Amino acid sequence: MILIIDMGSQYTHLITRRIRQLKVYSEIIPWTAPLAEIQAKNPEGIILSGGPRSVFEKNAPTASREIFEMGVPVLGVCYGHQLIAHLYGGRVISSSKEYGKETLAARPLHLLKGLGKKEQVWMSHGTSVVELPKEFEVTGSTPDCRIAAYAEPKRRIYGLQFHPEVQHTLNGAKILSNFLDICKCRRTYTVKGMSARLVEDARAAVHKKGVIMAVSGGVDSLVAARILQQATDNLHLVFVDNGLMRKDEPEQVKTTFVKLGFRNFHAVDASELFLKRLKGITEPEEKRRIIGKAFINVFEGKVKEIGSGIEFLGQGTIYPDRIESAQPSKTAAVIKTHHNVGGLPKKMKLKLVEPLKDLYKDEVRELGLELGLENELLYRHPFPGPGLAVRIIGEVTKEKLELLKDADHIFIDELKKSKHYDKTWQAFAALLPAKAVGVMGDERTYGHIIVLRAVSSMDAMTADWARLPDWLLEKAASRIVRNVKGINRVLYDITQKPPATIEYE
Ligand code: XMP
Repeated sequence: MILIIDMGSQYTHLITRRIRQLKVYSEIIPWTAPLAEIQAKNPEGIILSGGPRSVFEKNAPTASREIFEMGVPVLGVCYGHQLIAHLYGGRVISSSKEYGKETLAARPLHLLKGLGKKEQVWMSHGTSVVELPKEFEVTGSTPDCRIAAYAEPKRRIYGLQFHPEVQHTLNGAKILSNFLDICKCRRTYTVKGMSARLVEDARAAVHKKGVIMAVSGGVDSLVAARILQQATDNLHLVFVDNGLMRKDEPEQVKTTFVKLGFRNFHAVDASELFLKRLKGITEPEEKRRIIGKAFINVFEGKVKEIGSGIEFLGQGTIYPDRIESAQPSKTAAVIKTHHNVGGLPKKMKLKLVEPLKDLYKDEVRELGLELGLENELLYRHPFPGPGLAVRIIGEVTKEKLELLKDADHIFIDELKKSKHYDKTWQAFAALLPAKAVGVMGDERTYGHIIVLRAVSSMDAMTADWARLPDWLLEKAASRIVRNVKGINRVLYDITQKPPATIEYE
């Protein structure tokens, strides 16, 4: 097991995922964790992550010297690289910013074994190590960073100023794999075969008591429900149709769960209630709050109705939802309030059961396959909790919802038919709060404007617009204008995130 000590980087989860993909289990612990807790984990290697601070700032994250005396290899990445150098008496200074792809002149030793003399790496720092502690040697440099990689082979301490965990460091996986070799880790971790243990754990936890769980049709809640289904006969699922889902989706969700043999499946059609509460509301955050609250009201109502005997709340919480310190959004400004099935109130006094709490999304999907779920259910594009309400700019009305559902359905249909659906992270249509003039069959039209958005992304934190072929966009656009009455213009969004976000509100 490799323990990642989180110093606040947005990439901490990425390191953990990469290590797991190399078949070694890894876990995150915040830098504030007591030494005893770190020792108790008994790791075979430790990685100090990156972070937004500088080592010489007051109260900057740090690591206790005893960590280096545990007798296991230690790797520092970015901030971790600077911190180790600082703790051992090297010199770290505020330097000019280096950001983006750089060429590393590497000595193919230790961590960099097997690498070429010139390697593309990804840099993001404004602080640099300029003098190394005694007995440390430089193993890699870039034009602007002389100490971009170092090693102290005797104590097996290593540092990398660049990020081996991001894709742009082309041989990053090889570097991490070298670290695992140095740690002498056996490559045995896999999700295969894990489902039986997760079912057993859930069975022991709930012990035949009633479990209630909200499901949305999304991957996490579906896979979690599948595990709970095998762990107990006393499982109730609640699906709240908020009227803000994609075309035909509520029906599909219901059919799916019934087909999968879930017995106590409660579908609640609350679309009128949501629409009523959204009447006249145009402010994005207010929309989100109203939807979150309405969801809780409906869910609580259902729990009361089902009555006593329910002691547990099942949730599809996954590892990144749980390790808050490694979530950039927890410390960064609130850009959007997320209301998910996970945000249910504590006052419900139900005990939590979260079978997927240690897994990443890609692992959840793999597990889903093992549990007999179809690819089509597991590899769907992400869909926001507040649904189409955040894709209708301005007030949400029944008429606008219908227009948007139809347009979105056509776009997704064209993407699927042309096999572009699986190549994009997310794609959808949104409705703008404006009308435009057009001409159709010699008649003047005055209709709504639809915008199509398709993005590529790794984790939704950054995104690039998808370079879809022009013929595909044209086909989708003309089908939309021809078939969806009231729409006479289609735009394609070519903004990246940042500065835009993926959704519109
Ligand atoms: P943004 O728009 O912030 O979205 O770039 C990033 C990713 O998060 C999804 N998203 C949500 N997901 N509840 C969710 O479960 C929400 O309230 C929510 N808002 C945005 C969005 O679709 C994208 O994948």
